[in-house]
Amino acid sequence: MPLRVCFITAEIAPLAKSGGLADVSSALTRHLSRAGHDVRVFTPGYSFIDRSKLEVHPVEFLQDVPLEVGPHRYRCSVSTVRLPGSSASVHLIECPELYARPSLYTTDADEHLRFLALTRAAFECCQRMAWSPQILHCNDWHAAFGPLFLRTLYAWDRLFHGTRSVLTIHNIGYQGVFGADSIDDLGLGPDSYLLHQDDLRAGKINSLRHGILYADAITTVSPTHAREICTPQYGMGLDHDLRARGDALVGILNGVDYDEWDPRCDRHLPLHYGPQNLDPKRELKRRLLDRFGLRGGERTPLAGIVSRLTLQKGIELLFGALPQVLARRDLLLIALGSGEPKYEEFFARLQRDFPFRVVFQRGYDEPLAHWIEAASDMFIMPSLYEPCGLNQMYSLRYGTVPIVRRTGGLADTVQHYDPATRQGTGIVFNDFDTPAMIWALETALDLYAQPLHWTRMMLNGMAQDFSWDRQTAQYVALYERLLGG
Ligand code: ADP
Ligand code: GLC
Repeated sequence: MPLRVCFITAEIAPLAKSGGLADVSSALTRHLSRAGHDVRVFTPGYSFIDRSKLEVHPVEFLQDVPLEVGPHRYRCSVSTVRLPGSSASVHLIECPELYARPSLYTTDADEHLRFLALTRAAFECCQRMAWSPQILHCNDWHAAFGPLFLRTLYAWDRLFHGTRSVLTIHNIGYQGVFGADSIDDLGLGPDSYLLHQDDLRAGKINSLRHGILYADAITTVSPTHAREICTPQYGMGLDHDLRARGDALVGILNGVDYDEWDPRCDRHLPLHYGPQNLDPKRELKRRLLDRFGLRGGERTPLAGIVSRLTLQKGIELLFGALPQVLARRDLLLIALGSGEPKYEEFFARLQRDFPFRVVFQRGYDEPLAHWIEAASDMFIMPSLYEPCGLNQMYSLRYGTVPIVRRTGGLADTVQHYDPATRQGTGIVFNDFDTPAMIWALETALDLYAQPLHWTRMMLNGMAQDFSWDRQTAQYVALYERLLGG
């Protein structure tokens, strides 16, 4: 039966993206819509969204609408945009006062208000559209007050009487914590007793915690991470609340959008290849090395990195490992990313210390990300924690052997290669320390020197299928379970 799904997200590709949340929002809603469901996405109308290539339609009856967020009064207008190749409609909440900022996220004092407003706007739009969602699907801390609002501010409205809520945690490292002195911004009035009282006494309000407390179901983006976040090591202070929800928490692995990420048809690449024809991959490598002035022999391995440069991504492990391995082994490296200065400085220094062998491209560059996936021999992703991770799955499809730490979605998607059985798709290491990282890099380089094994490992990876069709079915099954189907 077709379902009505209200999907609230701070990011959706290709409109606004800082990481995998954008890819997942886009692919999941497109696949739900393709399967016949009525999905309406609500996302901020950030001023930096390039509207010139989009068909943006202002919704006539949703112009200059008053929006109350606690004592704050905003006016917003709504426009719809169709995602390429889909009938899912994205509702852009246009409110320049909140969303005309240089980047998606800010450290401004009203950051919590920007996303409370998004969440409230989604409810208000449903009301004005007289559209009754069966599922309210909230993503990350930005929309995490949705389930509580459903039970309080909007409980009077029959429109929402059948609505069940889902919170998906893409990144537990960001919880949307703001000061308890802003309690009125929630507009809960007498229902404020439902807020987490210990936090309030400690002077704070944690958005994500309230999603965990009040959503009908909680998902995160891999089965292993679902288990991990119930432990103090990975729960980032929320493990107790997660454990208390029992089997309301499930892990559903992300999929890969193979329309975007497949070397057989990648629109960012001038040459295409697949498991039957790997020659173009070698040519792409030659061209990338030329472009960046990297010098190596025909058989010198190229390692790639594409990442937000944050603590989560385990860049610290490379501080000790990469200089040592580069000093004693034949290896080239290209890294693309931006983030915390200490990580950017590390890569910049590495580039200076190993001229013509290391290139660091600071910034965000979608086409280059595709080139690196295609041209590299191996892809390094040593995350401290990784709810799912998409790049290792892209790497598998591109025949670029992933080197990953056994955590979260990395553990669920990459199988360590065993030369005895020739099974496995990558190099997987356990411990978060420099010796383990060095072991992983050297194991990869040793296998690279044995083309029979290397090619087997590449082909094993290229044969993996993480398509969204299967993953979407898991979300639909969850929605139906919640609706008592
Ligand atoms: P996360 O969401 O934690 O950043 P994921 O692996 O789920 O990690 O998704 C990251 C996504 O963002 C991938 O599509 C990746 O290619 C992209 N990405 C990350 N950094 C950059 C960058 N500097 N330039 C281009 N794309 C990037
Ligand atoms: C997050 C996680 C990443 C995940 C992505 C999409 O940002 O860090 O592991 O793949 O969200 O769910």
